[in-house]
Amino acid sequence: MKYPEPLCRLEDILDGGAIAVEPLGVAAISLLLLRQGEQVFAYENACPHAGQRLDWSPGKFLFDNGLLVCTAHGACFKIADGICVSGPCRGESLQAVAVEIRSGEVTLARD
Ligand code: FES
Repeated sequence: MKYPEPLCRLEDILDGGAIAVEPLGVAAISLLLLRQGEQVFAYENACPHAGQRLDWSPGKFLFDNGLLVCTAHGACFKIADGICVSGPCRGESLQAVAVEIRSGEVTLARD
């Protein structure tokens, strides 16, 4: 079985930071990858409030006190589970995407 193409290398994401990737090569289908040490949390790069991208410029994200901030209207999300803890979509969640890391490469999970 062929393994999925890598989304990026772990080292492409600063520890505590985030990047956006477009696995199909189109900006409309964007994933948000957040790194915490050796872990990567992945979500669709679309806010549950109004569906806008969360980055203020492609691949540039805001953080406040360890929370990811949607640049459109300020919703704040926990990194580890994508739950919105303040803002207009409080209680809703980012759409999680399963990824895994093998040999330093971040890929979509097989299952
Ligand atoms: S689109 Fe994210 S807070 Fe409104």
